[in-house]
Amino acid sequence: MSKSRDFLGPYRLARLIRQGTTSEVWEAIEENSQERFALKVLRENIKNDKAEIALLKHEYNIAKDLASPRVIKVLEYREDGRPYLVMELFSELNMKQALRRGPESLAFMLGKIVEQAAEGLYYMHTKNWIHLDIKPDNFLVSRDGVVKLIDFTISEKKKSGLSKFFHRPKMAQGTRSYMAPEQIRRKVCDERTDIYSFGCVLYELCTGKPPFTGNTPNDLLNKHITASIPSPIVHNSNVSREFADLVKSMMAKKPDSRPESMWEFLKVFRGIEIFKKIPKMPEISVFDSMPGVRGADDMVRKGEPS
Ligand SMILES: Nc1ncnc2c1ncn2[C@@H]1O[C@H](COP(=O)(O)OP(=O)(O)OP(=O)(O)O)[C@@H](O)[C@H]1O
Ligand SMILES: [Mg+2]
Repeated sequence: MSKSRDFLGPYRLARLIRQGTTSEVWEAIEENSQERFALKVLRENIKNDKAEIALLKHEYNIAKDLASPRVIKVLEYREDGRPYLVMELFSELNMKQALRRGPESLAFMLGKIVEQAAEGLYYMHTKNWIHLDIKPDNFLVSRDGVVKLIDFTISEKKKSGLSKFFHRPKMAQGTRSYMAPEQIRRKVCDERTDIYSFGCVLYELCTGKPPFTGNTPNDLLNKHITASIPSPIVHNSNVSREFADLVKSMMAKKPDSRPESMWEFLKVFRGIEIFKKIPKMPEISVFDSMPGVRGADDMVRKGEPS
């Protein structure tokens, strides 16, 4: 492969971590310092798409002001043939991948994971941002339970005062399995919108399943709006009553019935247990085969013969 295809500016592309619909995330090595970074690069076919470039810049503008160990650091926006973000590399699994490969690898340290994820979201809210795409894929998690929040593509400044009434997003953005009723209905969103989605994430973390599934996208959206809130205990009898009640309160249809802030959530969460009996650490962890397992769905080593 030619040198130019392997490089973006000073960064040598070492490993494709993830290929999405609009972007690729690469592990890359800066030539001079030999330091490793993660690059989120617009895909070749849309590298000139103005709307996609604007979204990437939007993500940079939000992330550049966030400085917390619980939130991924975004260092730079660059264009070297293709537009991209330079990020701190946290070369671990996202929560969705970890859950898919075996929730038991997270369950024995779920207290720490939930606390760290909640702190990342709380930090963002204290800076007056709402994330709006809270889902397991957007938290990175390490084998020792360190968590970092990522992906600020559709995040927005919290609306206050009169500006609330002029809020009319062009389309319902967000991920269907985790969207709050007000986000689906394009009403005003605030931190409680993220709290709803975070409740759905907690449900999945303790049961291995999202709270609602549907046969069609609309069916799923309707369940978020109208279906009664399921209890995680139905899928995992080891979940404590207190934690199940907390998760259900986060998933209340009306924002007023949810914990009013992530701080409120953390206060309650720190006083209760997730499980009746703490699950054992499994002998084989999903993190053992990290990074870059050959043949894994989302880990492709560049340049290796197949
Ligand atoms: N800094 C990072 N270090 C390591 N891996 C990362 C990093 N940032 C992102 N990833 C990986 O790349 C995936 C996609 O990143 P991100 O969510 O920012 O992009 P996206 O374009 O929104 O993709 P998607 O449409 O899949 O949500 C993450 O779920 C994670 O697996
Ligand atoms: Mg994402």
